[in-house]
Amino acid sequence: MSETHIPTLDNLSHETRSFAPSAEFVANAIAKPEQYEAAKANRLGYWADQARNTLTWDTDFTETLDWSEAPVAKWFVGGKVNAAYNALDRHVENGLGDRVAIHFEGEPGDTRSYTYAQLTEAVKQAANAFESLGVAKGDRVAVYLPMIPEAVITMLACARIGAIHSVVFGGFSADALRSRVDDAEAKLVVTADGTWRRGKPSSLKPAVDEALAKEGHTVQNVLVVKRNGEDVAWTPLDKWWHEVVETASNEHTAVGHDSEHPLFVLYTSGTTGKPKGIVHTTGGYLTQTAVTHRDTFDLHPESDVFWCTADIGWVTGHSYVTYAPLVNGSTQVMYEGTPDSPHQGRWWEIVQKYGVTILYTAPTAIRTFMKWGRSIPDSFDLSSLRVLGSVGEPINPEAWMWYRDVIGTNNGKNGERKEHPTPIVDTWWQTETGAHMIAPLPGITATKPGSAQVAVPGITVDVVDELGHSVADGEGGFLVIRDPWPAMLRGIWGDMDRYKDTYWSRFEGMYFAGDGAKKDEDGDIWLLGRVDDVMNVSGHRLSTTEIESSLVAHPYVAEAAVVGAKDETTGEAVVAFVILQVEPPEGEDVVATLRNHVGKDIGPIAKPRHIMVVPELPKTRSGKIMRRLLKDVAEGREVGDATTLADNTVMTQIAESMRK
Ligand code: WTA
Repeated sequence: MSETHIPTLDNLSHETRSFAPSAEFVANAIAKPEQYEAAKANRLGYWADQARNTLTWDTDFTETLDWSEAPVAKWFVGGKVNAAYNALDRHVENGLGDRVAIHFEGEPGDTRSYTYAQLTEAVKQAANAFESLGVAKGDRVAVYLPMIPEAVITMLACARIGAIHSVVFGGFSADALRSRVDDAEAKLVVTADGTWRRGKPSSLKPAVDEALAKEGHTVQNVLVVKRNGEDVAWTPLDKWWHEVVETASNEHTAVGHDSEHPLFVLYTSGTTGKPKGIVHTTGGYLTQTAVTHRDTFDLHPESDVFWCTADIGWVTGHSYVTYAPLVNGSTQVMYEGTPDSPHQGRWWEIVQKYGVTILYTAPTAIRTFMKWGRSIPDSFDLSSLRVLGSVGEPINPEAWMWYRDVIGTNNGKNGERKEHPTPIVDTWWQTETGAHMIAPLPGITATKPGSAQVAVPGITVDVVDELGHSVADGEGGFLVIRDPWPAMLRGIWGDMDRYKDTYWSRFEGMYFAGDGAKKDEDGDIWLLGRVDDVMNVSGHRLSTTEIESSLVAHPYVAEAAVVGAKDETTGEAVVAFVILQVEPPEGEDVVATLRNHVGKDIGPIAKPRHIMVVPELPKTRSGKIMRRLLKDVAEGREVGDATTLADNTVMTQIAESMRK
């Protein structure tokens, strides 16, 4: 970590508005205030009850939490449970087979709906097919798919047979895919020919071919879903999904897996160059994702239509697309494409078409819609909406209010407004936490624009100072989690030391989240952004070090420093400062070359918005790059205190090179 300083969001200190839920909402709310008290009085007992009430266990557990090998937790010890059975079969057995599980909306406008009975069959077929390809319990399966039902089917089929899925976001490059396949030693890759992006076919399979072109990997088969029908090259590893999966038997009995059996690995950026494979297990993860999905969104599974807009390549797509909505037996919408295809009202058209009642999205999307103008959502009927969620980064009060006023009060196309705007729930959590940790509950909490406010029942969070002491109300510090929680990560794939070092070494006995936070006068928590070298671009985590390593690996570059600069729409934007080591060839566009290089190395989302070629980088006497000063430059501010620089002329040199 270079320097940890606590960020401040000045606009938050003036925010005093608060909105209580309507009496009607309170009367019908699923979550009850007593849950907080019950959890406080007996935290483990609370979670044990939730686990037993929410999931169907093949074998009941004998111990709620085993923390004897801290910081590696075991939850619901001795229990056996099958995730796919809980998400599918049991609903069919309970007479809900005809309820729609997924309404799929393809970008070109094609649609498919799966009932619980149909989805169960599809997953059974996939489970049989994967087994016939030699995939067994404990094996890893890499998933490189667009937002299509086969993504959910693949994940649940893995869970059913005890194979561990590792989903790699489709926007990552061939190189990034290969390093994840290698790290997890995946046996099977599931992909598609491609998908659709803004009306055009966009390919995926060629990246898999490129990733696996070089020998030395562990992959035995590649299953390819036919999605966009583009021509694809064929290798000896490849098999069509429709030939292998859709012809497989639809009889498959799920057996319970140990509560601590790994469910998946999901790679995320950390403070060093190498992505970390976050490991989640079964019983605790399913319990907390399902419980929070129910309570945070006030889920009434018999009548709600839930839509989480996240891609399955991120944890939000894992927890609140694949697992929780299905474990809870609810109906959800899944959309393949971009919000502006074929027009900027596509999302609102989808809400109107399916009668979406709960919408869960990211501040970056809300700010984009603000930019496009309210007349677009105003021209659709959004009256079905009753809860709105936010995730991924701090939501600024302005975006929060827009979300409430424009989306949350829309009561039909004729400009009618709702008397009681829908509650907004800002949910703070991480890939590592697996499920919501801090969020208002819509029928209980009086919400404040821009604040995630309170820990969900059964979770203990705090804000502490440099020494790990709890700060007073009105003060800021570092966000920590004091007690183990059911959906917590169980480690980093293949690197337990890094797990301990990253999360448990900063403060004795506490989980360090890497976020700055503030307690307001009421003790409510406001998130202030990362305090480490992790950037948040459109709600996606990117590591400054990873992008720096990529830049330095290019033959032109001697040194690189990357910072996240504040951006109105994406939250942060990647800005790179590079020192060249060679004179590039005449006419060469160095900036374009380096941007493309990073795109190829990591993925298009990691491409720096700006690259500035500079003669020097600001460093302390011990050689640490002072990113804080570069951030000042990138954000066009007066440069802050530079007295600890080894060479204090550096900032002047940089400023001069900017002017050229
Ligand atoms: C940030 C996404 C403020 C935070 C679920 C965290 C948030 C990181 C919020 C995790 C929120 C997520 N308010 N910040 N509501 N939600 N973050 O692992 O910095 O992709 O540490 O998980 O996103 O990102 P990740």
